[in-house]
Amino acid sequence: MKKPLVVGNWKMYLESPEAATALCSALRRRAASFSGVALALAAPSPLLPATVTALKGSMIRAAAQGLSLYEAGAHTGEVSAAMLKNVGASLVLIGHSERRAGGESDEAVREQVTRARAAGLDIVLCVGEGQRDPNGEHFQFVAAQLASALDGLDASGAGALAIAYEPVWAIGKSAEEAARPADIEGMIILIRKILTERFGRPKAARIPILYGGSVDGSNAQALLAESGVSGFLVGRASTNLESLMEILKLCKK
Ligand code: PGA
Repeated sequence: MKKPLVVGNWKMYLESPEAATALCSALRRRAASFSGVALALAAPSPLLPATVTALKGSMIRAAAQGLSLYEAGAHTGEVSAAMLKNVGASLVLIGHSERRAGGESDEAVREQVTRARAAGLDIVLCVGEGQRDPNGEHFQFVAAQLASALDGLDASGAGALAIAYEPVWAIGKSAEEAARPADIEGMIILIRKILTERFGRPKAARIPILYGGSVDGSNAQALLAESGVSGFLVGRASTNLESLMEILKLCKK
């Protein structure tokens, strides 16, 4: 089996370069205890340079939390794919539900996918329904989100892709309210099927499918063992050294 992948999404929790550096340095010191698990940390743009510096020479990758759908030019407040690449990010989150809730459309997500690949950034593409539908509409919803975003990627982009399935109803909650393996198993199968149709079996089988939404040390093991996911996108718990270490160690087993 491929290495489990854990992506930490710091969101707006960490506020200073010093805090980012301290967390990265502590993780580096303890890297031996999660060898065999791939780790990336998604920092807010102003903290990316410090994060890149603190992770230099380690196996931990620095990621960005989003990017502009524009390439360059008169776009105040935007951060381009090239800027992220130039400061040393190698990966970017795209389509996170918190950005979609702020108005990011499927078209904008698709455009960002294209921009990220053109700049040579790898992608963690986030999809997920707002709520479950008794008639199974949430499956169509996620399938449509995924298909639309993947239209921004050519066949050679499969190797640069990871998918994060994050049901919005399970994000930022306690572990008791998080999705259980049985809740997400069907969606992971559907996502894998869509990837297989699009890229062919060998390439699709290598695309990590992560789960995100209130993952912590109490639910990570069951989710990994029973739901078919290849790892996690971790929000709040990724900003605390011990909480993140707990998840990483469980992924190693
Ligand atoms: P959470 O966030 O782990 O704090 O629920 C996950 C995410 O939104 O990526």
